[in-house]
Amino acid sequence: MCGIVGAVSERDVQGILLEGLRRLEYRGYDSAGMAVINGESSLRRAREVGKVAALADAISANPLSGHLGIAHTRWATHGEPSQLNAHPHMSGERLAIVHNGIIENYQELRDELKTEGYVFTSQTDTEVVAHLIGKNYQQEGNLYNAVKTSITRLRGAFALAVVHADEPDHLVVCREGSPLVVGVGIGENFIASDQLALLPVTDRFMFLEEGDIADIRKDQIKIHDRDGQAVERTITRFEHGSDSADKGEYRHFMLKEIYEQPRVIKATMEGRITETRVLEQALGTSAANLLENVRHVQIIACGTSYHAGMVARYWIEDLAGVPCSVEVASEFRYRKHVIQPDTLFLCISQSGETADTLAALRQAKKAGFRAALAICNVPGSSLVRESDLVIMTQAGPEIGVASTKAFTTQLTALLIFTLALARHNGLSEQKEAEIVQAIHLLPGQVSDVLALDAEIEAMSKAFMDKNHSLFLGRGSQYPVAMEGALKLKEISYIHAEAYPAGELKHGPLALVDSEMPVVTVAPNNDLVEKLKSNLEEVRARGGELFVFADRAADVKPEEGIHVMQLPSVHEITAPIVYTVPLQLLSYHVAVLKGTDVDQPRNLAKSVTVE
Ligand code: M6R
Repeated sequence: MCGIVGAVSERDVQGILLEGLRRLEYRGYDSAGMAVINGESSLRRAREVGKVAALADAISANPLSGHLGIAHTRWATHGEPSQLNAHPHMSGERLAIVHNGIIENYQELRDELKTEGYVFTSQTDTEVVAHLIGKNYQQEGNLYNAVKTSITRLRGAFALAVVHADEPDHLVVCREGSPLVVGVGIGENFIASDQLALLPVTDRFMFLEEGDIADIRKDQIKIHDRDGQAVERTITRFEHGSDSADKGEYRHFMLKEIYEQPRVIKATMEGRITETRVLEQALGTSAANLLENVRHVQIIACGTSYHAGMVARYWIEDLAGVPCSVEVASEFRYRKHVIQPDTLFLCISQSGETADTLAALRQAKKAGFRAALAICNVPGSSLVRESDLVIMTQAGPEIGVASTKAFTTQLTALLIFTLALARHNGLSEQKEAEIVQAIHLLPGQVSDVLALDAEIEAMSKAFMDKNHSLFLGRGSQYPVAMEGALKLKEISYIHAEAYPAGELKHGPLALVDSEMPVVTVAPNNDLVEKLKSNLEEVRARGGELFVFADRAADVKPEEGIHVMQLPSVHEITAPIVYTVPLQLLSYHVAVLKGTDVDQPRNLAKSVTVE
């Protein structure tokens, strides 16, 4: 969604803000803007439609130098992408604000402010907040108090950063439902919606809690909680290299992130497994206690993370013998559910800030689940802070909107979790050792698949002029097919649907013809013979098949059947390995089609609004 960044410093902040926006652009990218205060004399603002590069051009023609500033990259919710709707929004000439989130009662506040004479120049909910703070500033004569009073009127989710030209030495920020982090510098301080934005200037961060309001000066950070108590928030150091937000030698972040998978899968397993065993303690000191009596697992997630949950269900029921339900968060949160006794609530999220997933977690905590476990990639995120037990994936920052390494590291973490749970439910030591050994092989097997990149690129040409495609899988490969279809549609804009292969003849077979490529994942498991029959059904209707198959599965290439042989892998770890060629296929199709691979149209990386 939107990204915000702010800075107060001895030095000119314009470059810091611009670089912060570039690093946040993956979150939302329909317009960008910046407001900078230069002494008490002026507050100047620039806003441009399109990408941050357009704002950078505007600023290089008309620099906005100063020591205090805020900036924003927008993903439209209220009002089309336009210069007038772009942030920062102002009240009068001296107060500016940037905002992430949604103000649900904005219409009521807008009507009220209009009757008091405030004039609106945009369709956004944010401008309402600007005028509300502007109005309170006139009464309070103090920016901090004006923000504090104003936010009591807001309903919804927000992270705000506010500056006023009459108070040129600080910014006031607050959060309620949207992430906000303070970057701690030396003689300068920063804020952002994501720590990635600030990595060029600091590696020390304080994560604001819900309801916090903070006064940020270059040499002082004061935070109060929602009860008005002065509070300290722990400073944590960012653990990944500060170049993780750079593309390096790769043409796109997505490709870089696909290639990082052997390393980050290894990092996710490290410290959690021995040669033959899962180290349950490494999942948290309370893990043994929590897992002991789990009788049901409820998984909640969105998008790619939901697909990871779908794979995990096969593992949990197969290895732990524990019933498992999986549901997308946006559905779960709006229906009545029956909670089975001793249910573990498991949220999966790359960002840890997905609004629907967080809302579901908050409901679950009130509803009497046994405990909440999070599988997450962002330390300090809301999901991490609000869960009882956390297994961090070690994917490092994922910048490409299309999730790749987050998915395979989620699966790695989920498999390790499953083994820990299964041990409490009678999994034999021998079986645990067999699967742990298979996990150890994953980095090498994924590297072997990456070595097929050139062949997959050649295969991708067949999809370039197609409008539709089908992805098939059976068992735990069905969610892999779903993930493959999601990847293709989100970055190449080709309509892609996934089906369990056995469902084909119940409807989708009617769509199959030479214009409908059918992609299939076929590891060598109990279902492979049945899958081959499904492929025959497609071939008999003139459908062109693209099959990623275990070399031992004996799927023969022939006219209309393109087979790419993958290394032999353990049935349990196969979903992780078989995901990778589908990522590469989508990537190359998108590159051929010339789409914006890292920032596909209409999407945002972190979906922090409902
Ligand atoms: O940060 P999360 O894992 O909670 O995000 C969930 C989805 O928005 C995300 O996985 C989305 O589907 C991906 N962009 C797909 O590639």
